[in-house]
Amino acid sequence: MKIAGLSASEILDSRGVPTLEATVVLDDGTRGRAAVPSGASTGEHEAVELRDGDKRRFFGKGCLKARSHVDNELARALKGCDASEQGKIDERMIALDGTENKGRLGANAILAVSLAVARSAAAASKQPLYRWLRRAFGLPEKDWLLPTPMFNVVNGGKHADSGLDVQEFMIVPTGAESFSEALRAGCETYHLLKKELSAGRLSTAVGDEGGFAPHLGSHEEALRLLRKAVAAAGYSQSVRLALDAASSEFFHDGAYRFEGKPLSADQLGEVYASWVKSYGLVSLEDPLAEDDWAGWKRLSSALGSSVRLIGDDLFVTNRKRLERGIREGIANSILIKLNQIGTLTETVDTVGLARRSGYACVISHRSGETEDSFIADLSVALDAGAIKTGAPCRSERLAKYNRLLRIEAELGGQARYAGAACFTLPQTARR
Ligand code: PGA
Ligand code: ZN
Repeated sequence: MKIAGLSASEILDSRGVPTLEATVVLDDGTRGRAAVPSGASTGEHEAVELRDGDKRRFFGKGCLKARSHVDNELARALKGCDASEQGKIDERMIALDGTENKGRLGANAILAVSLAVARSAAAASKQPLYRWLRRAFGLPEKDWLLPTPMFNVVNGGKHADSGLDVQEFMIVPTGAESFSEALRAGCETYHLLKKELSAGRLSTAVGDEGGFAPHLGSHEEALRLLRKAVAAAGYSQSVRLALDAASSEFFHDGAYRFEGKPLSADQLGEVYASWVKSYGLVSLEDPLAEDDWAGWKRLSSALGSSVRLIGDDLFVTNRKRLERGIREGIANSILIKLNQIGTLTETVDTVGLARRSGYACVISHRSGETEDSFIADLSVALDAGAIKTGAPCRSERLAKYNRLLRIEAELGGQARYAGAACFTLPQTARR
């Protein structure tokens, strides 16, 4: 499985913004291709997405420099390497870049290659990607788990102009019998939510991740609408609610600017606590800002035994930041985004550390996505337990859900649906 060639193209993401796609060609002619996504509410501590900065092209967002790094430096460095040695290849790219945050070659260039290498190796070994990934990382090829989908059905924050501070309102079919039934529950609830919005003369236009973006008076109005739609669809017993506040986006000058008022971390924590109680939320992602470690610590003590507290911008899929969280008893779960850290190997390493420490892992898309469904395979390969990849709307989101349907069909009785497992708090996470 020797790498014979490597190249990249500038393609477009779901917002019509350039991103990168890499193709790896092996010496037997086998090809592997992968595209990288891009966030909008990006964490301060994420690996660097290299953009051209030339305002005459795509307002500075072109990826020609990153493309050239793949076509030249990375292609030269990896020619002749064995594509089955993912760890070595990723290490080599990290060393070649030479920076802490992949700022020289670009995490977009490095990740596109990292994922394309895995695809080429899977193709050469004639294995589906999820199976190859288990093999490549030395995990047993049995006891498959299909992730619980988290559907973002109302979009706020930076993903829509709905006026809501909280970025994502999700429905989570924890009580479904199977992955396909979970998907069905998500779709039926989504359609009834649309009906509900129409009946209330509210907009049914969608945001970046396919969720509706109505102008609502308050966050609780959104939660009430969701609960109503879940009940109308007949899933009150099996579909739960979850939020991603993406709160770094509304944290300014030491205060959370929430529903028009400046709140402290503790005051906002009380709002969350009341919602957890009233709406039975199963998880709260980025409830507090990415560097508000002290606030996070108090919130973890207060709510960490009753709800999954997921660090996204807080941990940025970064082992060092997660280590600090574990050491200090902060959060009890982590959101996993490949492009926050920039290689497949580092991502798998962070997931391993999280699992060993009792932190639940949710594999996630970005708000700017492509038709690439790599994360669907990754979620199965790593037994992630949950996947967050938007509403059941917009093909870049459905590409992942549809891929999981195919994996479910392929694995048949060999796979179990994760259901509520990911959201059940083990003893170790209680504090
Ligand atoms: P992003 O949003 O891709 O715009 O960062 C997704 C999230 O915050 O989970
Ligand atoms: Zn998030």
